Amino acid sequence: MTSQKTLTFSQLKLFDCTLAQLIQRTHILESKDYIQHGVTSIFDHCLNVALISLKLACLLKLAVDEKSLITGALLHDYFLYDWHKKESSPSWHGFKHPAIALANARRDFPINRIETDIIINHMFPLTFFHFPRTKEGWLISIADKFCSVAEVFRLQKYKESQWTALSYDSEAEEERRLR
Ligand SMILES: [Fe+2]
Ligand SMILES: [Fe+2]
Repeated sequence: MTSQKTLTFSQLKLFDCTLAQLIQRTHILESKDYIQHGVTSIFDHCLNVALISLKLACLLKLAVDEKSLITGALLHDYFLYDWHKKESSPSWHGFKHPAIALANARRDFPINRIETDIIINHMFPLTFFHFPRTKEGWLISIADKFCSVAEVFRLQKYKESQWTALSYDSEAEEERRLR
């Protein structure tokens, strides 16, 4: 059996549906207002992590819960503040934001065991005692580091064009802009 190199239509469809569901039910679009690394917003960073982790799972031929992988990835940095501004962010952001993201995610969306693992443990090894307990959690932790380095050094080549072609809820985005 060979590794799958590109995502299938059903995987992209699942990605699209999951994102549309989160846009409807959470404040995920707010994360477009905050920069994560370089010129990349938290929203784009989470999309990148979701796609890279899904691709990594295919490459490694890992059987994963794809819906949970995508949901967890999209919400892994759902802390909803600008961590570059001291006045609006908590001290020790690097250590504290997984718990803040999880609390926000649980407030807005039903979060399962795998998604909880992804969100709370994604900063490993920084958060030494919080290491991933699931395959999905490990994939996100690895994809998060890869995307972060690429974003900091602005290595835009890796940036997938696939998700920009996806028709995520543009109406919700328009509504948000008008608010
Ligand atoms: Fe994070
Ligand atoms: Fe992240």
